[in-house]
Amino acid sequence: MLPLKVTMPHDPVPALLSRATEVLEAQFAALPEFAPSYDAANNPEAMARVLGDVARRLGDNYPYFHPLYAGQMLKPPHPLARAAYALAMAINPNNHARDGGRASSEMEIVAVRSLAGLFGWTEYLGHLTSSGTLANLEALWVAGQLAQESKIGKRIVGSEQAHYTHQRISAVLKLDYSPIAADRRGRMNLNALEDELRKGDVGTVVVTLGTTAIGAVDPLDEILALRSRYGFRVHVDAAYGGYFRLILKALDEPARRAYAVIDQADSIVVDPHKHGLQPYGCGCILFRDHCVGRFYKHDSPYTYFTSDQLHLGEISLECSRAGASAVALWATQQLLPLTPDGEFARNLARGRAAALDLDRRLRQDELRRFQPLADGPPELDIVVWKMNAESPERASELAQKIFAASALRDLHLALVELPLTWFQPAAGSESSGVDGTVTCLRSVLMKPEHEAWLDEIWKRLTAACSEVLGENENVRSSHAR
Ligand SMILES: Cc1ncc(COP(=O)(O)O)c(C=O)c1O
Repeated sequence: MLPLKVTMPHDPVPALLSRATEVLEAQFAALPEFAPSYDAANNPEAMARVLGDVARRLGDNYPYFHPLYAGQMLKPPHPLARAAYALAMAINPNNHARDGGRASSEMEIVAVRSLAGLFGWTEYLGHLTSSGTLANLEALWVAGQLAQESKIGKRIVGSEQAHYTHQRISAVLKLDYSPIAADRRGRMNLNALEDELRKGDVGTVVVTLGTTAIGAVDPLDEILALRSRYGFRVHVDAAYGGYFRLILKALDEPARRAYAVIDQADSIVVDPHKHGLQPYGCGCILFRDHCVGRFYKHDSPYTYFTSDQLHLGEISLECSRAGASAVALWATQQLLPLTPDGEFARNLARGRAAALDLDRRLRQDELRRFQPLADGPPELDIVVWKMNAESPERASELAQKIFAASALRDLHLALVELPLTWFQPAAGSESSGVDGTVTCLRSVLMKPEHEAWLDEIWKRLTAACSEVLGENENVRSSHAR
């Protein structure tokens, strides 16, 4: 089948940028003119030719910007964020230090204050990072430093569904790490956690609010109750799910309870480059106790100390960092403030509504082709389902074929390997208890447009299924009768 035409939306960025560039140039109008060595006027044709080549090469990508891309965690940045980022590139500020980017450092401080406010914090230490990985690294590094200082337990634990980065970061930091079993909803199993806590050497529990695979929300409220008994540090990895704190009403009760107490965490990671409409790389680390800033202390004769204010390089493990990220985030937050009744929150809720809609359609399918999670609908906006088949091997094979058949219809889904038991009746009923994993289909419905596109997504998914399963319309309609 020929791929269908996917149209790129009209791009408002060039017009936005051209006006703003004039304003920016005016800020430096008092300087004497000079001839830049790399000026477009020197070689316009060669530059245009290379850029044309770049554009053609970039065509070798999935259409991440389009609602029919419903696979991995990829969300197009807001046009304002792209324009602000590109505008900042004319200066290329470095938020390592105030002298590297005075305005952009100020914007970072304001943008981070909004993120901290999202979690109910007014006192904190925090900054942007170039990724969720770096932000989590700082959280676990501080946890390790604190453990060393107080000689308390150093071991890090996190659910087996936590992002793999935690295990790897712990290895880099030479801290022991143990995975904790997850339950059938992909949430950390509290009995398994308590078994580890009883050993007495756990220093930090990584609690994920929004797991990468299925958007599961660990029971933070219950983990905090264990903290008061066992004493450990709580690091919340909300790289993906952090912004859902804004739309508590749209969540189910267990997730709502977890988000409601996020302010009691010791550290929080959230990634504006996931749900925050930002270009890569924009992560953020926040610590509740600003005193942990002492661990970052360093003496550097060669960084910029002309300012007497604390600069961001003094509270960050990374040195050079794109000031443009802070500029883009600040601009986006000016346009779309992080308020529960604002447009940003409404758009987040639209993705969540799309996920619930898709999950409902999968459950209500008359041909019973799909098996969504046995224990209930998605907690955020990620939907997973197993194909109904006589064996796990056949279900995995079908998932792979439907993934490919959907892609031929320009519907891009993702594949994920999940425990088979999650799709079976709970233990105690007859057919449960087969171990192992199965390849499932996964759809991250994180764009607001997904809500309006769900009919089309469903049409293409079911057409792909009909092709792979060899059904014809007669079978389908006789079933429907
Ligand atoms: C929960 C979670 N933590 C951490 C990460 C790593 O973040 P990054 O890819 O920005 O380094 C991810 C990425 O998907 C994630 O989903």
